[in-house]
Amino acid sequence: MSTPPADLLAAAEAAFANAYAPYSGFRVGAALRTDQGTVYAGANVENGAYGLTRCAEQSAVQAMASAGERTVTELVVFTAASPPASPCGACRQVLSEFSSSGRVWLVNGQGEVIETDVRELLPLGFNYRESTA
Ligand code: THU
Repeated sequence: MSTPPADLLAAAEAAFANAYAPYSGFRVGAALRTDQGTVYAGANVENGAYGLTRCAEQSAVQAMASAGERTVTELVVFTAASPPASPCGACRQVLSEFSSSGRVWLVNGQGEVIETDVRELLPLGFNYRESTA
């Protein structure tokens, strides 16, 4: 087990502080690094029409893809939960679109860390680009 990269941990915690979660009260911050070395962060952004809520991991991936980058190599997800919260199924699918084996650290403010990777989070996930009719 390794410790999360310090810069991603700091970026995820900063995003956590910016989370817009007035309905659930559950803040999530995510920060990723790409194969180009760039860091993108995102927070969960809730909506009064609940189904429009955007998870933190998806916010970070959207920022990355919107900037033209395509490959996630590392991701830190920061919550206040113990044990650290794990990405939802939808976030796992979104991550798998842009990462086959990126490292993932799930962390909280108490210093607890769960280390995993995108493949472990979504075994046998759907991959349209590798699917033939
Ligand atoms: N949430 C995330 O940001 N990421 C996840 O992987 C799971 C859930 C957010 C959505 C919502 O704003 C709050 O956490 C409670 O579900």
